[in-house]
Amino acid sequence: MSDQLSDLRKKREQALQGGGEARIEAQHKRGQLTARERLSVLLDEGSFQEFGGLAPHNTTDFQMADKRYPGDGVVTGFGKINGRRVAVYAQDFTVLGGSFSEVQANKISRMQDMAMEAGIPMVGLNDSGGARVQEGVRSLAAYGEVFFRNVKASGVVPQVSLIMGPCAGGAVYSPALTDFVIMVAQTSNMFLTGPEIIKSVTGEDVSTEDLGGAWVHNQRSGVAHFEVADDTAALELTKLLLSYLPQNNSEDAPQLITGDDPARLEAELNTLIPDDDNLPYDMRELLGLVFDKGSLLQVSEQYAANAITAFARLDGHSVGVVANQPSVLSGVLDIDSSDKISRFVRLCDAYNVPVITFVDCPGYLPGVQQEYSGVIRHGAKIIYAYSQATVPKLCVVTRKAIGGSYVALSSKQMGNDIAFAWPSAQIAVMGADGAARLLNRRAAAASEDPKQANADFIAEYREKFLNPYRAADLGQIDEVIEPVETRLRLIRALEVLRTKVQTALPKKHGLFPV
Ligand code: HXC
Repeated sequence: MSDQLSDLRKKREQALQGGGEARIEAQHKRGQLTARERLSVLLDEGSFQEFGGLAPHNTTDFQMADKRYPGDGVVTGFGKINGRRVAVYAQDFTVLGGSFSEVQANKISRMQDMAMEAGIPMVGLNDSGGARVQEGVRSLAAYGEVFFRNVKASGVVPQVSLIMGPCAGGAVYSPALTDFVIMVAQTSNMFLTGPEIIKSVTGEDVSTEDLGGAWVHNQRSGVAHFEVADDTAALELTKLLLSYLPQNNSEDAPQLITGDDPARLEAELNTLIPDDDNLPYDMRELLGLVFDKGSLLQVSEQYAANAITAFARLDGHSVGVVANQPSVLSGVLDIDSSDKISRFVRLCDAYNVPVITFVDCPGYLPGVQQEYSGVIRHGAKIIYAYSQATVPKLCVVTRKAIGGSYVALSSKQMGNDIAFAWPSAQIAVMGADGAARLLNRRAAAASEDPKQANADFIAEYREKFLNPYRAADLGQIDEVIEPVETRLRLIRALEVLRTKVQTALPKKHGLFPV
């Protein structure tokens, strides 16, 4: 037995060394942690149980006969984050560039299967040169195994992907199929085809960072949802993010006691909206006053900043927040913000997180480019997502809810359970200037003083339509409230809705506009 024990210990020791000292040093020099160091930051101390740690890679492949790396470039297993179970894998760039092999796929797929059966989230730490070239089609098929399980697990257990190094070629599709993508600035990148191939095909000259760096996917493509400064920040963010989510789709997210008084009244809310309704204000400030202090965590913060999507807490309960941002493009809805909002609403609905929408939106963005690029199809996603979501849905109309934005974001017809409006709310088919152009143009032109006739029309229109009371009279708004009491009213409304019966029509699946 003692020989066998020392043999096992030797093998384990070798596995812990990954690709060897020089490569570990190179990893550290780039400011990155190794796979195992990353797991030790992510998981509660002593909670990690590794599986497949000694799995040998295939040595019969091209140029692989003399290589021996137990575990084959990925560390897989289970651990705990803040006492809650989680399945993890961490690719080890020091071993064959973390390249993705059949053995890697077997290890990751097994972990995915067990996570789905146990109903626990999966966290993948990606740091890999992509499909292992030496394995040929076997490494391609191996990706298929993981993608298939990403899709099976979608909406069943939360899936978080951290991009902590290269993520090239088809490898990008596993993260793209998961719920959240977190990228580390400067040291991570994602692209389908690299700079060299692009140069040879299109002649474009671009650096790796400008092609697929963290800023690209956070600001431009929307592929990533978070950008962080370094590995440790990515791992800490993952812990925070999971705290807003349940373990799986049959549970509720945990209530965390934040110590913030549910009855806190914020006088500042009563003066936050400027008197001139064309002036912007910062919706983030408003949200910060309403939700539990310090609890707002924006998702896709840099992408389509005219809309805000975030997790937050109300009396410790996790909620999803959707809001227009009047200080960016007047909070208008466009293609990118439609994608951002609809994806987030579906995500919240999948994981039983109630959605609270704050509306101040002049409508959908007019423009030839928007129409050509399919603002109709993308805008439809918001309507689809809200209509389909069965979680408790609340809204607060703070100012403009004009035209399509009223219907899509805050109407009872989208299944909104409780709709609040502030006295500053304006719920109408269109703004006063547009209405004047459409309805009063001829009458004004024919009058003795067209300017005055226009002003009179606008004043009358504003009084009649640009307020919340018509909608409230018709039951489309449940209550016009003072801004100061928003927090308390939302907490009470959520209390009532916590046991809401959620039903959906049986069908194979709908045809979500994509
Ligand atoms: C086998 C690989 C590898 C790969 C890297 N390595 N990528 N081995 N298959 N895909 C090995 C290198 O040979 C090297 O081994 C070690 O990992 C470290 O790589 P370096 O190139 O020295 O590191 P670095 O300079 O930091 O560059 C990292 C890199 C580069 C940018 C990721 O390695 C790279 O361009 N790799 C290929 C990326 C790629 O095109 N992958 C295929 C994508 S197609 P030694 O022993 O020399 O140190 C794909 C299809 C999947 O993935 C489709 C699924 C649907």
